[in-house]
Amino acid sequence: MAKIKLSMPDLGLARKRLQKDTPTYNYQITKEYSNIGQNKTYYIFTYGCQGNEADSEVISGILEDLGYVKATDPYKSNLVILNTCAIRENAENRIWGVLGNLKGAKQNNKDMLIAICGCMPQEENATNKLLDSYPFVDLIFGTHNIYDLPKLLKEANDKKAKVVEVLSTEGAIYEGAPKKREFKHKAWVNIMYGCDEFCTYCIVPYTRGKERSRAKEDIINEVKELVKDGYKEVTLLGQNVNAYGKDLGLDYTFGDLLYDLDKTGIQRIRYTTSHPKDLDLKTIYAMRDCPSVMPHLHLPVQSGDDYILKKMNRKYTHEEYLEKIRILKKEVPNISITTDIIVGFPNETEEEFLNTLKLVDEVKFEGAFTFIYSKREGTPAAKMEDSISDEEKHKRLDRLNVLVDKYYLEGNKRFEGQVVNVLVDGVSKNNLNNLCGYSENLKLVHFPSTDKSLIGQIVKVKIIEGKTWFALGELVNE
Ligand code: SAH
Ligand code: SF4
Ligand code: F3S
Repeated sequence: MAKIKLSMPDLGLARKRLQKDTPTYNYQITKEYSNIGQNKTYYIFTYGCQGNEADSEVISGILEDLGYVKATDPYKSNLVILNTCAIRENAENRIWGVLGNLKGAKQNNKDMLIAICGCMPQEENATNKLLDSYPFVDLIFGTHNIYDLPKLLKEANDKKAKVVEVLSTEGAIYEGAPKKREFKHKAWVNIMYGCDEFCTYCIVPYTRGKERSRAKEDIINEVKELVKDGYKEVTLLGQNVNAYGKDLGLDYTFGDLLYDLDKTGIQRIRYTTSHPKDLDLKTIYAMRDCPSVMPHLHLPVQSGDDYILKKMNRKYTHEEYLEKIRILKKEVPNISITTDIIVGFPNETEEEFLNTLKLVDEVKFEGAFTFIYSKREGTPAAKMEDSISDEEKHKRLDRLNVLVDKYYLEGNKRFEGQVVNVLVDGVSKNNLNNLCGYSENLKLVHFPSTDKSLIGQIVKVKIIEGKTWFALGELVNE
């Protein structure tokens, strides 16, 4: 098949932050593309973080504006898009596996157009592998040009050629793009894009580019619209939300944004992710003062050892982290704190690992995502010497998880006997006689009820039993 390589990824370029100011445009689909999806179906597979989930909602919105209809069977649809994640090697391995399945499906459905986007194509290695070993992929684009999808699709359709366009300088911010949101009661709201932290293990600053904040008015208006449409909860998204506004050069921070959003009438505000170095008092006070800001904070610590934190370029010590936790627990006494932890960072010693266990014991996180360090080509840590065996890393992960699970359980048990507010998401997967949803502290709660009219409502549930991953309760009639 002919190839049209409009542009290939370049991690070196991505590191440079060449775009000085980020323009904001109103999104519009030009007429020439307006019906390229007529009589066609689409299906999107989404991997990775909430940022990718939010992007997939925009991609769905754009596709439906072009006339595409969502398919029920991905393997029979006209267009399949894989929105990918590059954070760890196993995230990428999953995608290679799905691509293998799609190859078979395409043999039975020759007209199927296969596209791949998200963070993986932003890596040179991944895109080269896609070109060399997956010739049936028709369209490769990245994180900076999802808004060019109509043009890219037309090109791939018309020219019957493989189209590759991966940009390594940041895209503009587009307001007003169509979004097909997954839920009717809770919504993702991007407040910023990109990341400038360059933690030495992490690929995100390369795949997502530099930090770009949306204007506060645009964010506030989006939340007001969501309130009008009956939404109960928003989750504000950014790789480091505490850096919100820094790139705009205004005297307006993330804490200010929380206070302003509290006034919109939205019932629940969550946010992710926070960087411990940038979590400031104003944000903590907003959590204390604003009834809509939920008492849960995800504050990734990564390691409890100062030398490892330094090698990770995290820019805080374990003591500075603990100090923020103390302030948080003092100002927001009911708060639940969760975290991310990496074990087996290059040459991490047993003693350094024990410092992480110690910190988990001190903070008593009510939940944690735990990972084995995964080498990402192009990042500084990939060049660090590492003599720790895989076997040892797996053992450490197991030891850490035993401890983390203990506090997970305690975090759920502490609500036993209490009545909590649950925003009902839907029917429980494993028991059709139960509904489930999340409490204010982001506890997953299941309770017996078959009343589907409760979905999307906030109800009172008395917690009967806390388990490790969830809590069981019963509906309280008011
Ligand atoms: N911006 C967020 C989320 C980043 S990705 C933050 O700073 O927390 C989510 C988590 O993946 C990170 O917190 C980190 O724990 C983990 N992670 C990132 N890169 C990794 C790597 N190379 N190997 C293992 N885990 C990694
Ligand atoms: Fe990655 Fe660090 Fe940025 Fe999070 S803050 S996305 S871990 S570089
Ligand atoms: Fe993955 Fe990209 Fe998100 S690497 S975690 S999808 S920013």
